Amino acid sequence: MRITDVKVIVTCPGRNYVFLKIYTDVPGLYGVGEGTLNGSEPVVAEALRHIAPLLIGRDPQRIEDIWHLVYRHAYWRGGPIFAAAQAAIDFALWDIKGKQANLPVYQLLGGKARDSVMCYSHAFGKDVVETEDSARQLMEQGFKVVRCQVGVYGGAGVLGLNPPMSPGTPPEQIYEPTPYLLSVPAMFKHLREKLGNEIELFHDVHEQLSPIEAARLAKELEQYRLFFLEDPLMPEHRESWPILRAASTTPLAIGEIITSRWDCLPLFQNHWIDFIRIKPLHVGGLTEARKIMIMAEPYNVRSAFHGAADIGPVAQAASVALQSVIPNFGVQEWTRYPDATYDVVSGTCEMKSGFITPSEKPGLGIDIDEEKAAAYPYKQAWMPLVRRADGTMHVY
Ligand code: CO
Repeated sequence: MRITDVKVIVTCPGRNYVFLKIYTDVPGLYGVGEGTLNGSEPVVAEALRHIAPLLIGRDPQRIEDIWHLVYRHAYWRGGPIFAAAQAAIDFALWDIKGKQANLPVYQLLGGKARDSVMCYSHAFGKDVVETEDSARQLMEQGFKVVRCQVGVYGGAGVLGLNPPMSPGTPPEQIYEPTPYLLSVPAMFKHLREKLGNEIELFHDVHEQLSPIEAARLAKELEQYRLFFLEDPLMPEHRESWPILRAASTTPLAIGEIITSRWDCLPLFQNHWIDFIRIKPLHVGGLTEARKIMIMAEPYNVRSAFHGAADIGPVAQAASVALQSVIPNFGVQEWTRYPDATYDVVSGTCEMKSGFITPSEKPGLGIDIDEEKAAAYPYKQAWMPLVRRADGTMHVY
């Protein structure tokens, strides 16, 4: 079997996605992939167009070999752009292999270790009562784990917005850590009083704190028995993890912006974290995410795969396939896509009562309608910019 064509599809049915189709010389057999990278979609698409000629003529069944070919082709290795492009190719090859074998990808990875994948979703509000109501709605839907945020960007630390510098660019948030640090323990005090102790609750810091601030927060939240504290530090603060770890028994989760096994390994080996938030999309695909989860296993690190809406339907299906088979599963983040996405993409994973069951269709079970995708052209979108009250870019 040979790869005959590679097609990159950038579309915005409610939000931007980068999809990929890899065609073979077997009539009708092609694989669907995804390389969405929030805010940088056109850059990944260009990387894929650049890499595509390397793939033509190769045997798509040789997934491991093509992974290393793509990883090493540029001399410059790694980083989020190449990791997302590499994932797009890797997903499409697993999809082809599944279609060829007439089996869903989770079967190729070893078969189910659980019937379905437990998900969490997001409770939020402008005050603690709104967050409580939002959490109750999720609990009524069946969710066993709920992320809890209050105020803009998860805490009361955002004091206002600077208007955009030029049309089409984002406003800048004004953030201060003290109101944020005061608001989060107060939120959990309220939620535990109102919702009880059994529901699993947690909070996402979005890497907004310095190491000693994060240590203080983890310590103050210990009494509220969090499922985990998410992204308390930037991954770069490697030397500060022991300070945070020693401060409390609050379980720690990180990894949604980690793109390599080399950044995961010290977190595992030093027992600094309890949950790893990688997902196949941003570490180079299923081939690599599976290896990272195997590396995590002897260190008792469980998965908490990032699954915000920028982890599009193909990438989410790949996450669910892997989450179904790994023994060290923790939880899967779940967000519904904009309605138009369901118009362009078929086979999207369905969440029922807080759980997702992987698709039984061959491969990843997803297809992209290219004509419909073309009706939703790319729209430039940005990530939040954050400054301190005195005008300094927020450095943490
Ligand atoms: Co996060």
